[in-house]
Amino acid sequence: MTARHTPRGLLVLGGSSEIGLAVAERWVRAGTAEVVLAGRESARLRAGAARLEKAGARVRCVHFDAERTDTHDQVVADALADHTVDAALIAFGVLADEHHPAAAARAVRTNYAGAVSCGLALAERFAGRGHGTIVVLSSVAGVRARPDNLVYGSSKAGLDAFAEGLSHRYGPRGVRVTTVRPGFVTTRLTAGLPPAPFATDVDTVARAVVEGTARGAHVVWVPRVLRWVMTAFRLLPRRAVRLLSR
Ligand SMILES: NC(=O)c1ccc[n+]([C@@H]2O[C@H](COP(=O)([O-])OP(=O)(O)OC[C@H]3O[C@@H](n4cnc5c(N)ncnc54)[C@H](OP(=O)(O)O)[C@@H]3O)[C@@H](O)[C@H]2O)c1
Repeated sequence: MTARHTPRGLLVLGGSSEIGLAVAERWVRAGTAEVVLAGRESARLRAGAARLEKAGARVRCVHFDAERTDTHDQVVADALADHTVDAALIAFGVLADEHHPAAAARAVRTNYAGAVSCGLALAERFAGRGHGTIVVLSSVAGVRARPDNLVYGSSKAGLDAFAEGLSHRYGPRGVRVTTVRPGFVTTRLTAGLPPAPFATDVDTVARAVVEGTARGAHVVWVPRVLRWVMTAFRLLPRRAVRLLSR
């Protein structure tokens, strides 16, 4: 990161993510010169690269599958090899098909296990240099388990705890970990779902991430009011949670 807290280079894991691309574009417009988009080959990934190039960045796309945890150390090593990349955004994630146990477990592997192998690989390398920023897209869904989306929510709870622990372990070695907890964001992930209260958009999330990392926040809630809403929700008795989730 520069003195103005803009990354010199950014790695986006989940390079076609709508939120991920909005954050990347905002940083590129603020001065980030290099972006590595790590994702599965698709027209969306290529369109994301073109969009960031148009905004002024040099962009490289690399193959990345969040489920292939055995490959993540190498993907991260390659992306960070030229020492320009000093920030990474863990942006991949899927909703879980809870009617099919195997599919639900795959979603957990993506959302949680995939982020663990990427997060550890990033933290070790950034710590070796003495600096680096990791931004983790968690969710308010991880704050408290609910009857709906319980698999997605529990995977985000695990991810959120992992990010906090990573911050404690690697903070003293110069690695900043920022956990982002958005509420409902209108993207293709939520397409067809009824908007939840305090629904927001990708530009609002991007602005909150850029401002939050600049002020050194450990946790960024989007919108901010969710910090207080979810603090209260955490204290509710179980019965109230069930009733509210109907
Ligand atoms: N939208 C919301 O309401 C909301 C709220 C809170 C948190 N979040 C979190 O924010 C993050 C980004 O979500 P989004 O809203 O931007 O949705 P999105 O546009 O659907 O992005 C999801 C990303 O995950 C990638 N992905 C999924 N499985 C993958 C795999 N096995 N290997 C590699 N990449 C994989 C997708 O790649 P492909 O293009 O290849 O499928 C896509 O880039 C997710 O972690 C999500 O859980 C979203």
